[in-house]
Amino acid sequence: MRVLGIETTCDETAVAVVGSRLGGDGGEILSNEVLSQIAQHAAYGGVVPEIAARAHIDALDRLIKRALDSAGVELSEIDAIAAAAGPGLIGGILVGLTAGKALALALGKPFVAVNHLEAHALTARLTDNLEFPFIALLISGGHTQLVAVHGIGDYRRLGSTVDDAAGEAFDKVAKMLGLAYPGGPEIERLALRGDPARFEFPRPMLGRPNADFSLSGLKTAVRQELLKMESVSERDTADIAASFQAAIVDVMVDRVRAAIRMFDETTGMRPNGVVIGGGVAANDAIRRALARLCSESGLRFVSPPQGLCSDNGAMIAWAGLERLQAGLAEGMETPARPRWPLDAKPSETHHGKA
Ligand code: KG4
Ligand code: ZN
Repeated sequence: MRVLGIETTCDETAVAVVGSRLGGDGGEILSNEVLSQIAQHAAYGGVVPEIAARAHIDALDRLIKRALDSAGVELSEIDAIAAAAGPGLIGGILVGLTAGKALALALGKPFVAVNHLEAHALTARLTDNLEFPFIALLISGGHTQLVAVHGIGDYRRLGSTVDDAAGEAFDKVAKMLGLAYPGGPEIERLALRGDPARFEFPRPMLGRPNADFSLSGLKTAVRQELLKMESVSERDTADIAASFQAAIVDVMVDRVRAAIRMFDETTGMRPNGVVIGGGVAANDAIRRALARLCSESGLRFVSPPQGLCSDNGAMIAWAGLERLQAGLAEGMETPARPRWPLDAKPSETHHGKA
């Protein structure tokens, strides 16, 4: 089976073709085209929804053609179309969702609406064929949560941020330091030359029994430190970046540890592994720390390649394929859902309450 997947919930227009492998052994990515709009948003220091929606309209049909060409398949050889129906920016979602539905209608093929967060969580099955149940840490510019993934459509949130998302914290601190947007990669690069022990920034929620996150206090602590300085040298900037990243790493490790404990206590089972997804999952310091935690806990750690952690069409196509194979596809009737918690009951999402 070959599925074409469309992703337009944020600032990446992405289209991919993914095929199933015989015997259900993960998936095969036949093409994975991503067009980042970062350059168009950079001047504003963040994603501007109206610019994003227009850019998706400009790019999408071209990208669909490119994804088919690089996969070497015709539209008629596609068995189903999947598109992200949320959560995210409504204007962008409508572009991808409507294009996906129209294509499916014209081709007479099934349409599958995909939850963007579900797609991040299921990527570890595409790349590493990870068996259920497992724990997913989703960390991006818009989301920071820990989810127990028991099966397709069977997700339970273990914790989430009560304020800023992890990527948001990286971006805001980067802005304070005068670094370019998006700030995550800039901070990671600078942190390599900085002293992570120079500033003792807070590690909010550390040691709490739940698996929630709080990151706005950490951001404020960085601001206060900067206000205390008369001038900020390159050395200072690197040290702040390193000290901030060290705090984030400690928070991530502690919260994932809490999630593993919660999973064990509530299910009486061990998860088969921990997976990470979302743009912040590209951060090498976070990856290394979580790999260490998992090896100490005797758990498998799956960190998909960077291109499959940040927003992409392959994860949407794969989640669509998994849903179709499980007979759990939500189709044409699915509306665009700017908010769509992974663990919402279908009745809540259908009435737009979630
Ligand atoms: O998943 P993503 O591409 O878009 C959404 O937010 O949905 O994530 C983008 C976020 C940005 O906040 C960016 O600063 C952050 O991911 N990011 C990183 C790194 N690369 C991207 N944060 C920390 N370290 C990185 N290497
Ligand atoms: Zn994402």
